[in-house]
Amino acid sequence: MAAAANTRIRYGTVAMTLHWLIALLLIGNLCSGFLLANVLPDDAWWHVSAVQFHKSVGLTILILSVLRLAWRVANPIPPLPAGMSLPLRVLARGTHYLFYALIIGIPLAGWAWVSSSPRGNPTFYFWLFRWPNIPFLASQPHAAKVANSHMFHEWHENLAYATAILLVLHIAAALYHQFFRRDDVLRRMWPWSTVEGT
Ligand code: HEM
Ligand code: HEM
Repeated sequence: MAAAANTRIRYGTVAMTLHWLIALLLIGNLCSGFLLANVLPDDAWWHVSAVQFHKSVGLTILILSVLRLAWRVANPIPPLPAGMSLPLRVLARGTHYLFYALIIGIPLAGWAWVSSSPRGNPTFYFWLFRWPNIPFLASQPHAAKVANSHMFHEWHENLAYATAILLVLHIAAALYHQFFRRDDVLRRMWPWSTVEGT
């Protein structure tokens, strides 16, 4: 079993748990958001509850991502394998930094959207308590709210679909490391694997 913290050669259990949990929730929310907005009927009796669930999962991703970023800053990650060219290194790290921005930016844009919505629908976090709107946005005059909610909707949608594209690249990279380069990159993020030297 890996240690809680990252080592020179592999990710620790905290980083791995956060990576896979956020990945699962994020892929789920990409699907639920897409289906709710474009496929499922708006007037179905369960639509409001399904949106509440989407918002609750999204806010959970926001909390986990902030914790993950803090852990990332506090805990050095294993270096990329030797022998990777400079452009590939830049692409790999660039994708990861962009992911950090997106997993925080998408739910923030969603929260800003519902906070500035003139409809004023409340958000109940998993039906446990009322999640506050962002006060600055919720207290704007009606015309500003209409403009802001339109803008944050666009942000929410565009950032979410950009993540879907980045995810394809990220998964392709993981498979490239595993099956072409045959290095430890996937194994060191995979909880049940052993990496030489651990
Ligand atoms: C939307 C879902 C996902 C997000 C947001 C995401 C995000 C990230 C981020 C930010 C890192 C860098 C970790 C760090 O430097 O602290 C990372 C690493 C990694 N991810 Fe993902 N990931 C996702 C899904 C996946 C999937 C489905 C796979 C596998 C097919 C995967 C495989 C990996 C691997 C192998 C690494 C380690 C790379 C390295 O050691 O440098 N990820 N991921
Ligand atoms: C990482 C987390 C999230 C992801 C990946 C995500 C993704 C999406 C996507 C892809 C859509 C469809 C957009 C469109 O085609 O118009 C959507 C819709 C929506 N999202 Fe999110 N979202 C997340 C978090 C949030 C949060 C935190 C909130 C609010 C607190 C939120 C509120 C909404 C609402 C209200 C809709 C419209 C649903 C409908 O049309 O019935 N989302 N989301």
